[in-house]
Amino acid sequence: MALNTLVIASHNAGKVKEIAALLAPFPFEVISAAALDIIEPEETGSTFAQNAVLKAEHCRDAAGHAALADDSGLEVAALNGDPGIYSARWAGPDHDFAMAMERIEKELNATANRGLVDRRANFTCALALAIPGQETKIFEGRIDGNLVWPPRGSRGFGYDPVFQPLGFEETFGQMDQIQKHAMSHRANAFKRLLAAKPF
Ligand code: IMP
Repeated sequence: MALNTLVIASHNAGKVKEIAALLAPFPFEVISAAALDIIEPEETGSTFAQNAVLKAEHCRDAAGHAALADDSGLEVAALNGDPGIYSARWAGPDHDFAMAMERIEKELNATANRGLVDRRANFTCALALAIPGQETKIFEGRIDGNLVWPPRGSRGFGYDPVFQPLGFEETFGQMDQIQKHAMSHRANAFKRLLAAKPF
């Protein structure tokens, strides 16, 4: 059955904007969970995929419509994948990403070996699509890069100013957002979703 409405199960304006742009070519209405006053469930999963499923199914059940959730974050190799699923939580209740980026930089410097720091990091995204009456589907994507310091650029959101994707001079915070959205972890997860032709 063709979809009439798809709810984006996120209250993060940056993500909603990016996902809504990716869904623009489809003929169904796209609305955000915030616009429907649907409260986000607690993220109790231990992986991006588990948290994405939790959010998508909660939103599907609350709205009675298909729901698409994203759980994503920054994994820093030298910090054993931290902040990972805790990426939003490292910024605290005030969403203070300047503080979260500084914490990463401090913890990274503490791992220095003879003055050398492994600055590799990746963003990962798990998308969960929960359609009423169907089994929830999960699609994952990532993008690899390095962390820079100090932060550069004021575009994007979250950790964008310290993330420099492999092969590029600019950080996600400096880059044209159309360019970021074409290569991001979310775009890569989305390519997998589209390849599965779920709509
Ligand atoms: P979630 O809402 O629990 O999935 O939180 C994901 C967090 O990861 C966000 O609040 C950001 O801090 C970070 N994050 C995810 N995707 C991006 C991105 O594209 N750029 C910068 N930070 C991101």
